[in-house]
Amino acid sequence: MRVFSGIQPSGAMHIGNYLGAIKQWVKVQGPESFYCVVDLHALTLQIEPGELREQTTDYVASLLASGLDPDVCTLFVQSHVASHAQMSWLLECVATYGELSRMTQFKEKSSRQEGHRVGLLTYPVLMASDILLYETAEVPVGDDQRQHLEVTREIATRFNNRYGETFVIPKAVLPPSGARVMDLQEPSRKMSKSVSSPLGKILLTDEPAEIEKKIKKAVTDTDGEVRFDWEQKPGLSNLLEIYSGFSGESPESIAARYERYGDLKSDLAILVVESLRAITERYHELRRDPAGLDAIVSLGSQKASAVAEPVYLRAAKAMGLF
Ligand code: AMP
Ligand code: TRP
Repeated sequence: MRVFSGIQPSGAMHIGNYLGAIKQWVKVQGPESFYCVVDLHALTLQIEPGELREQTTDYVASLLASGLDPDVCTLFVQSHVASHAQMSWLLECVATYGELSRMTQFKEKSSRQEGHRVGLLTYPVLMASDILLYETAEVPVGDDQRQHLEVTREIATRFNNRYGETFVIPKAVLPPSGARVMDLQEPSRKMSKSVSSPLGKILLTDEPAEIEKKIKKAVTDTDGEVRFDWEQKPGLSNLLEIYSGFSGESPESIAARYERYGDLKSDLAILVVESLRAITERYHELRRDPAGLDAIVSLGSQKASAVAEPVYLRAAKAMGLF
């Protein structure tokens, strides 16, 4: 089964990324899995060139530390494979302005930025290109990407109807729990690299004491009953969801074991610290060997290009180029 997914190297990786996406990537990885650090997407927001370069390497290290095995799957950097940007132009001539301007993420991000970049609007077209270039069947992502997957399917279907069968129609695959991890301080909004305050998000590289502090200070409610109920108790339900994401147990059965918020928080802190410990250690080890990381992604890019280029050429030809 062909699998593709991507992550933007902007801001430090948090447990929402881990539970919503990376954990699934690791679980399903095989010779048909392609995972990509999407540095071109990161250019849609303000980022210093040096920072982008540094974070691209950080992300490669974090993904390997989380359990991706370059001998099993293909891990690469988006800008190293030219077909992504090339395909994106073709698909910009298939997507419509209307469907792109209706995207929730575009509306949110563009309203926060004066003079926002055109790339913010065309972002889902580049994402569709990423996915379609690999004849992807399944895309493991968090809930916030569902709408982008829908638009990818629409663009692919429209292309196939207009120019003949060219693309496989992909589908999103969401994890059973942790598909939408919320901000610990504002449980009505998702945990986000760019928007969440430092106390609102737990980073993969946080020290144990920071993790404990953030969980202890997480916003809950005052009625005191431990119950999984997103409507009435979003803060507490988020903690149960995170617990479930790390332990595999259902949020309801976790809730049934606790009488007090404090006990739940203490145990959750231990669980998160223990789960992230090995990842953090491995991350620091890998980060000390940038040449080793470069070698992994350069091999990954070669493997990715070999798959993507023929698909790009097929699409270009179908549209009448050459
Ligand atoms: P991004 O950080 O936007 O590049 O997202 C990378 C992956 O993490 C995507 O699959 C997202 O759906 C997922 N993701 C991002 N934030 C969250 C969150 N708060 N909860 C669950 N998944 C998330
Ligand atoms: N837009 C995705 C996000 O912000 C990242 C991404 C880019 C992606 N290309 C992709 C995810 C292709 C899945 C497949 O989370």
